[in-house]
Amino acid sequence: MSKSESHLDVRTALKQGLAQLREAHVPSFTLSAELLLLHVLGRGRTWLYAHPEEQVSSTDADLFFTLIARRANGEPTQHLTGKQEFWGLEFEVTPDVLIPRPETEHVIEVALDRLALRELRAGRKQTLTGEGLQIVDIGTGSGCIAIALAKELPGATIYATDISPAALAVANRNATRHSVSDRIHFLESNLLDGLIYRASASADISAVAAQHGAPLPGKDSQHQAPGLHLIVSNPPYIGRREAEMLMREVRDHEPEIALYGGEEGYELYADLIAQSSTHLKPGGVLVLELGHNGLPAVQPLLDAPDWTGVAVTNDLAGIPRVLAAERS
Ligand SMILES: C[S@@+](CC[C@H](N)C(=O)[O-])C[C@H]1O[C@@H](n2cnc3c(N)ncnc32)[C@H](O)[C@@H]1O
Repeated sequence: MSKSESHLDVRTALKQGLAQLREAHVPSFTLSAELLLLHVLGRGRTWLYAHPEEQVSSTDADLFFTLIARRANGEPTQHLTGKQEFWGLEFEVTPDVLIPRPETEHVIEVALDRLALRELRAGRKQTLTGEGLQIVDIGTGSGCIAIALAKELPGATIYATDISPAALAVANRNATRHSVSDRIHFLESNLLDGLIYRASASADISAVAAQHGAPLPGKDSQHQAPGLHLIVSNPPYIGRREAEMLMREVRDHEPEIALYGGEEGYELYADLIAQSSTHLKPGGVLVLELGHNGLPAVQPLLDAPDWTGVAVTNDLAGIPRVLAAERS
């Protein structure tokens, strides 16, 4: 045994770690302990269970138990490992961004279904590549939605806005990590305020941050035309009055700007839907994630004559989670 070994094997380290998390009432304590040990050892899960007798060095053991203590104190596992999987891709996460949630994958599914339907209606049956599509993700956070769409739609141009420059820095790094940074334009903006249309025959959009906002060459308000085919958003939707009911991992560690939409939670949707109505082409699609009780407040905002084809998708827990509609 080398000097640096801690007299702890993998099985014992894991057992001790998860016992500490269980005692601290950490949700999913076994998974958390496993993820932290894998992170420290730089191994995959299969390795963990195939090598229970392997010795853990004292450096690794010290680091593991430091992380266990931080987790027991409420820090999310993803802040300790710096990553979270979404849509089969690994994303960097920091305390500046919302940790991507599994229910947000329904936003991607609904968006892709709606785009495929448009293609079918237009008589095009080839595989959906997103060729020529202009897409915006509002409130991109880690960039998970924009990047998943960029991977699925290699022909699309994507704009991703966020009001938080710190979140945009993380999203940028994630886009580079997944080799899609040339197709996603990140933009610091309140909702869609920073999107300006360039007057051109193709009505392509160019995006500039409003605060950096020199007018684009040739921009002429007479010629501003709606240019987007798809707008997606998972906006902040928790009510401040619900804050006390949140898990401490969320309330004390995730960014307030990503969590709270106002006192009730659904306050941002009215502006978001009004702006989307201006920016979408006729037949363009809007896909929104909702909070657990958001549907009654948000669905009435998608009314005729501006919107058609309104539909709700439930998440795996049966909660109405995604609202989609088409610009008439
Ligand atoms: C619920 S998080 C969603 C992050 C990411 N899209 C996801 O699904 O994991 C909401 C994001 O919207 C951003 N945000 C909050 N208010 C905004 C606003 N008025 N305009 C643009 N982005 C905003 C926050 O900074 C945060 O990154």
